[in-house]
Amino acid sequence: MKKIKRIAVCTGGGDAPGLNAVIQAVAVSAANRGWDCFGIREGFNGILFPERYDGNGVIRLTRDRVRGIGHLGGTILGTTNTGNPMSFPMTTPDGKTSEIDRTGEIAAYFASHEIDALISIGGDGSLTIAEHLCEKYGMCVIGVPKTIDNDLDKTFTTFGFDSAVSFATECLDRLHSTAQSHNRVMVVEVMGRYAGWIALHAGIAGGAHAILLPEIPYDINKVANKVRQRSAEGRDYSIVLVAEAAHACGSGMEIKAPAEVGHQERLGGVGEHVARELGILTHKEVRSVVLGHLVRGGGPTAFDRLTALRFGSAAVRALDLGMNRIMVALGMLGVDYIPLSEVAGRMRTVPLDCDTLQTGRDLGISFGD
Ligand code: F6P
Repeated sequence: MKKIKRIAVCTGGGDAPGLNAVIQAVAVSAANRGWDCFGIREGFNGILFPERYDGNGVIRLTRDRVRGIGHLGGTILGTTNTGNPMSFPMTTPDGKTSEIDRTGEIAAYFASHEIDALISIGGDGSLTIAEHLCEKYGMCVIGVPKTIDNDLDKTFTTFGFDSAVSFATECLDRLHSTAQSHNRVMVVEVMGRYAGWIALHAGIAGGAHAILLPEIPYDINKVANKVRQRSAEGRDYSIVLVAEAAHACGSGMEIKAPAEVGHQERLGGVGEHVARELGILTHKEVRSVVLGHLVRGGGPTAFDRLTALRFGSAAVRALDLGMNRIMVALGMLGVDYIPLSEVAGRMRTVPLDCDTLQTGRDLGISFGD
């Protein structure tokens, strides 16, 4: 077993509250073992494009550098969800575009700088790259699951999710009073690219009257019935929470916003669409609000901060114990270690029989089905 002396950490994909707490725990736990710790800037860009960072694409993460960052949102390293190094977009001299695998450059950097292991903090995309680096180049990599969307398999939760749900719930609390004062329907759209976890949890906690999830294609007439039923019972306002990937039954299609060149396709607009249709069907005043990146910004809740610190320290402990090619995860009894091959490329959507969903149904919330 190779003795660890130098490690690097990177953050990839969309940011999530708690990233800085993981970085802090990794750097301090490494320093306490006498290891050097480095941070790669903006995913792997610090290695792939050193010129962009004036030679500082990979920075030393000393104890001083990470002091006092655990409660801060975002990531001190920066992150990116474009330019996956496994399929990097490139324009050939004849103007054609193709994709190339640049992961060899990352492996070569680690070898030439004698960095023994990588701690890769990210979602599905980053964990797939992590598994590829182990598989193809024999690199030592530990994954740390991150996403506000909570859609990663084999972990009870990802850090960032609780912060997103807490903020969205607070927004719903605020919208209740204004919706009630004006007898309006408020349609609120929240993030959740492949799964409706944020909408489900915030919707139930925040007392939404209808929740539309990508897992349950909705019938707008059913949602309108719910609004009408509430009015008939003297509750002349309603809150409808819509996950950005929700879609009407029969359509099978999410609503997409125009994407910038080179960026992943963006979801967005379903809230406005639902609001328009509800206005026509119910003849009520309807307003739509998109929470968008507000649910991803800001600092982590205490739960997310603690989870992130536990994940960071568990990742370093895993390396100290000689583990490789695993993801740290939150199990029911503590931190688990799961083979990367079991999580890479796997998505965890809301199971239709989960008790949280049943809770919503018991409370009379409409899911548009
Ligand atoms: O995966 C996290 C996430 O916040 C999704 O919920 C959302 O669809 C996406 O990222 C938005 O990405 P961007 O910041 O590129 O708009």
